[in-house]
Amino acid sequence: MSINQFISTITKQDSAFQENFQFSTKLSTDLRLALSQVIDHSNKQAIVKHVERGKLHVRQRIDVLIDEGTPFLELSALAAFDQWDNQFPSAGIVTGIGLVEGVQCMIVANDATVKGGTYIKETIKKHQRAQEIALQNQLPCIYLVDSGGVFLPQQAHVFPDRFDFGRVFYNQSKLSAMGVPQISVVMGSCTAGGAYVPAMSDQTIIVKNQGTIFIGGPPLVKAATGEEVSAEELGGAYVHTAISGVADYLAEDDVDAVRICRRLVQQGNQKKAPKALEYQEPLYPIEELYGIISANNKKTVDPHEIIARITDNSDFQEFKKQYALNLVTGYSTICGIQIGIVANNGFLNAEAARKGAHFIELCDQRAIPLLFLQNITGFIVGKTYEHQGIARDGAKMIHAVANTGVPKLTLVTGGSYGAGNYAMAGRAYDPEFLFLWPNAKTAVMGGEQAASVLQTIKNKESEMEHPLIKQIQDESSAYFSTSRLWDDGIIDPVDTRKVLALALSIVTNKPIDKGKFGVYRM
Ligand code: COA
Repeated sequence: MSINQFISTITKQDSAFQENFQFSTKLSTDLRLALSQVIDHSNKQAIVKHVERGKLHVRQRIDVLIDEGTPFLELSALAAFDQWDNQFPSAGIVTGIGLVEGVQCMIVANDATVKGGTYIKETIKKHQRAQEIALQNQLPCIYLVDSGGVFLPQQAHVFPDRFDFGRVFYNQSKLSAMGVPQISVVMGSCTAGGAYVPAMSDQTIIVKNQGTIFIGGPPLVKAATGEEVSAEELGGAYVHTAISGVADYLAEDDVDAVRICRRLVQQGNQKKAPKALEYQEPLYPIEELYGIISANNKKTVDPHEIIARITDNSDFQEFKKQYALNLVTGYSTICGIQIGIVANNGFLNAEAARKGAHFIELCDQRAIPLLFLQNITGFIVGKTYEHQGIARDGAKMIHAVANTGVPKLTLVTGGSYGAGNYAMAGRAYDPEFLFLWPNAKTAVMGGEQAASVLQTIKNKESEMEHPLIKQIQDESSAYFSTSRLWDDGIIDPVDTRKVLALALSIVTNKPIDKGKFGVYRM
């Protein structure tokens, strides 16, 4: 046994373990149900029409595109969930990273069976997030395009602002300038703004009798000029491969188009995904996480128990093991890839914040990616702590998190409250990936605390049923967060090691700049 191996103190017969297990398996069943709802969504008519046209469904297209038997790391599958009367499953777009001819590629694929593949706010956010990940990690982009452009009733909310639809094409220009290959496969309509996705790609494939590209479709042309023209005549596959030159390769059908796309990825000097490294599995079964996650989110969960179930051989070389026990820091590997772990074990106090800042700088110096296991109620409050300058020490950790140049992965394993969210690499701190467990809660503070703060400042008698309590409870759920793309997806705890290993293998592509740290208030 390695000297760094953590010895679990969990007893599976414990009633608390059993209760937690039931709680988490229920959450995991709910997650699977939600995912199956968006994957096999209910717009059956649109699906039938799509299939009758000889088209593959969006996730089938991805299945045939990626190397057989390899995983696809799908991102934000529950975007737009429980919004828009659930008429935009996955926000009408599937994004994720998969291997194509051994090369890690970012895949962005419209789902034409969701309102013609049109874009609402969440669709745009998801498309841009995929481009951001591609840019950070130098991943070639493959766009499987089948979209009617902007969802017109929402035009004022998706068209003109800085991060609205136009930003997608701005990003394509930037990716291109950085030498990141972009290939479009036009498998359906590409109208208006959507026409720029293939037009701005390095190479474009178009499917015969299916793909069309035009700035204005036949109805608009008729309205504007009176000219009557069919979609095929205006901008079909023949037009663009033989007359306009907007597309470069003519494909017979979806499968043929994907075959051509795979060959294009093969060409050039694309970096192959790193070879699998040798490693040992954790000592403890990952399913035990279900019994470790607390059904009562006010209870602190010992992060060592989580770390021991996701790291190779459950090895963890702890840094400052005896100091500032509220923050656990140390080195390990996940599927052979080195990682520095920063994990909450209670609220953040001054010592914990300083320890965190120190450890982040160490990892930065040694170019070791960081994993934040976030379960935080916030920074400690109270007169003693304010007098000791908790704000100053918290600021050090926030500085370090913001300025480190190494990749950061964040997993919210419980609460994500207040400035604790910032110090532990929340979304605003640009972690390369941020995932949630289904039990995660994200809010500025708990509902009861917020209600009581409001009551105090308004000088009201305590009202137990303050509406803010319910509001914050609803708004802090993992589903609320992921629906709005505050994260890259909710994952089942039993998939944690697999997902983190994939994410790590992707972020190792990122060119690492040493962090440049600012002025620390001492
Ligand atoms: N805005 C809002 N809704 C749109 C839309 C758009 N741009 N394009 C399609 N839809 C809706 C349709 O109203 C329909 O909704 P419903 O299911 O509630 O009836 C659904 O998407 C499917 O459209 P439909 O035309 O039945 O599907 P299709 O597969 O035959 O054709 C398109 C899809 C995208 C080719 C076609 O709808 C189209 O040309 N749309 C207009 C595209 C356009 O001009 N965009 C400019 C915006 S920048």
